[in-house]
Amino acid sequence: MFRRNPRLLASISKLSSDLMCSHDVARSPMQSTTKFGIAMGNKGPGLSDFIKDLPRTRKDKIFPAISDTHAYISRAQLNGDGKKVLLVTFGCQMNVNDMEVVRGLLIQNGYIETKEEAEADAILLMTCSIRDGAEEKIWKRLKHLKRNQRRPRTVAVLGCMAERVKSTLLSTPGDLCQVVAGPDSYRDLPRLLALSQSGTKAMNVQLSFEETYADVTPVRVDTHTKTAFVSIMRGCDNMCTYCIVPFTRGRERSRPIDSILDEVKRLRDEGVKQITLLGQNVNSYRDSSSSSISFGVDSRMVDGFSTVYGQKSGGRSFATLLDHVSRVDDSMRIRFTSPHPKDFPNQVIELIKERKNICNQIHLPAQSGDDSVLDAMGRGYTRESYLTLVDNIKNAIPNVSLTSDFIAGFCGETEEAHQNTLSLMREVDYSFCFVFPYSMREGTRAHRKLVDDVPENVKMRRHEELASVFREISLRRNVSRLGKRELVLIEGRSKRGEKSMSGRTDGGIVVHIEEKEKKMETGDYVVVKITGGTSQTMSGEY
Ligand code: 5AD
Ligand code: SF4
Repeated sequence: MFRRNPRLLASISKLSSDLMCSHDVARSPMQSTTKFGIAMGNKGPGLSDFIKDLPRTRKDKIFPAISDTHAYISRAQLNGDGKKVLLVTFGCQMNVNDMEVVRGLLIQNGYIETKEEAEADAILLMTCSIRDGAEEKIWKRLKHLKRNQRRPRTVAVLGCMAERVKSTLLSTPGDLCQVVAGPDSYRDLPRLLALSQSGTKAMNVQLSFEETYADVTPVRVDTHTKTAFVSIMRGCDNMCTYCIVPFTRGRERSRPIDSILDEVKRLRDEGVKQITLLGQNVNSYRDSSSSSISFGVDSRMVDGFSTVYGQKSGGRSFATLLDHVSRVDDSMRIRFTSPHPKDFPNQVIELIKERKNICNQIHLPAQSGDDSVLDAMGRGYTRESYLTLVDNIKNAIPNVSLTSDFIAGFCGETEEAHQNTLSLMREVDYSFCFVFPYSMREGTRAHRKLVDDVPENVKMRRHEELASVFREISLRRNVSRLGKRELVLIEGRSKRGEKSMSGRTDGGIVVHIEEKEKKMETGDYVVVKITGGTSQTMSGEY
């Protein structure tokens, strides 16, 4: 059974980067650490100098030497002085929101955003590591940028891949990137960019126990959109065995309620009509910054659920946050993603039922419908307890729209286990599912303890079967809406053509609406008659 003390590990990693205090981040990883991954300073011989073929541990491979750049830079040099930055985001909504934080920080420091690659002094890529394919995309983009480079410029890799791959990004032949910044070091970007502009490659991948960027005002790409994401927490403590996120984003920490409410009110004043609260595990949210208001604290787990980490208690819970956020403006829709089924308190179900502006859509990632796979994944629930939660939710909110994530071909998944997942999908009757073929990630518990034994062609076949069952279910659900009326929040022009707008129902389904006599504007609520659709979207008349 996996046991470790993350606090201790984090302090070791902090200690190691302090001890090395390197100014030269471009060196190869093995030059500055011992082969056990705990730095002992870069002077003097290490154990490896005496034992020649000391095997490298897997941990060394994934977490190469941490040698953050500690070089001093003057205050004046921190200013971007009108230099142009191109910001490119890959991956999830959390990354979109992180890029908004980066945009805010860079604008504050005198940088200007450009959309033109050719005129950019720096190109910043917000990256994802969740599956191997996500990282491959970034390597491709880095090579493409290098080939297209016509004048000196900095390329910076930010986010999860920066945290996972670290200095290898800087030392890979071809000088593909000059700055590496992990998810907790965006405040350091002005210094890292200034260093790179003076010719020094620079890296900061220190993870933090406290950083929530609570005081940074995120700047959205397009301020005309009427929907916004608000990050309420960072990191994840769940340690699902397949997942790299706890290693790339660090320990779970919640942003204080007051700062979230300030942001939501600012967005309301800008005319935003829908807020999505974001976090890796939103309903384990705890604001312990002030325990004076502790309305509705409920730290009991629903029966049948367990956690590898101690259940959080005290402070202000997700139910409290949701209560406050939904009262800011009752014409503003509230969504949240993603909750973990094991942390789903009854209070949140009650609130969704009671408040008309909290959408009746719940993303409840099941990952698998088979007990032995769920156990191997370390999810903390069984098929039965998951289904009990689904029943409770459906009983309380009859028109609820449930969505989920599934992984096909996890370690040890048998054909029978796969069939159990297909039958869970049918039983729950999801309105939308994201399905992924399993991708083994170095450093995860599955990588250390389990065997990635489902052949690639079988994984792909099961992935396709999950996708086709999902399409069959959602098509049936969408067809059943024909002729009914739905309240849609218009999000913008539809890709279907000049005279079409698109928006979402309360349940989160996209509806394309043809504009006839009555005009629609982004941010309008309109009652639409459903006239058609596919498994993915619906169409309607207004
Ligand atoms: N392989 C495939 N899918 C994964 N996910 C997370 N880690 C992996 C992995 N190693 C999926 C899970 C998660 C979603 C965000 O990504 O389904 O809920
Ligand atoms: Fe990964 Fe599990 Fe955390 Fe989601 S809850 S980010 S799947 S560890």
